[in-house]
Amino acid sequence: MGIIYENLRSCVETVRRKTDFQPRVALVLGSGLGGYGDTIRIEEEISYREIEGFPVSTIEGHKGRFLFGYEGEVPVVVMQGRVHYYEGYSMEEVVRPIRLMGLLGAETLFLTNASGGVNREFRPGDLMLIRDQISSFVPSPLIGSNEETLGPRFPDMSAVYDEAYREEIRKTAARLGISLREGVYLQFSGPAYETPAEICMARALGADAVGMSTACEAVAARHMGMKVCGISCITNMASGIEKQPLSHEEVKETADRMGGVFQQLIKESIRTIGRT
Ligand code: HPA
Repeated sequence: MGIIYENLRSCVETVRRKTDFQPRVALVLGSGLGGYGDTIRIEEEISYREIEGFPVSTIEGHKGRFLFGYEGEVPVVVMQGRVHYYEGYSMEEVVRPIRLMGLLGAETLFLTNASGGVNREFRPGDLMLIRDQISSFVPSPLIGSNEETLGPRFPDMSAVYDEAYREEIRKTAARLGISLREGVYLQFSGPAYETPAEICMARALGADAVGMSTACEAVAARHMGMKVCGISCITNMASGIEKQPLSHEEVKETADRMGGVFQQLIKESIRTIGRT
């Protein structure tokens, strides 16, 4: 057993000293979704700081805790705040919380984020169901000696985002009257926003949206056999599409404005997925 697994075991033990909660779905909350945590029936709360060797977000306003509770009847573990590669953590550290949630029993990982729209048909405020991803611009979280206890050395990535879940989410959105785009998410490292030339490249490569998270988390989850789904909030048009420069303020503003609708879609999607 390698060092990665030993560290994870100790994280699991820390959590297990506090709760024996068995989550089924693990949810990562992106920008604008912080309020979602208040809408579930919370059983336990664990701050990342309480877990030794755990990465803690350096960005102001990111909470940094796990919530254990119920979305309807579905037992969930929710990550309120994630860490990003650009904060200086290694990819192994960035995905540690994902692996921990998997080891706690979560079979499904539900990813959310804010992203820049690369597809010219998109508009700020659109929600995009993630169909596939490009993670080739950031290091793989699987680099290093392989943890056979987690998954295989060369895991298959031909269906990262579960097709059956995608269909459930499409139906849920239709039922709620929420229009939903669909596309490919590309992860850059950030923290600078992209140049117009980088966005042209992303589009030529088949990306519909770009961001600074998520794809590495999906890789780690698939490695260990979790099922994955994801929704992105297009908070702004990516660099070079519109005249005004990109700003974190615009991203936050759109994410907050869409928070209510985004939350509703996630809530109902988890309840639907929980019935399957
Ligand atoms: N680029 C990268 N990450 C982002 C963007 C963007 O335009 N918007 C929100 N997150």
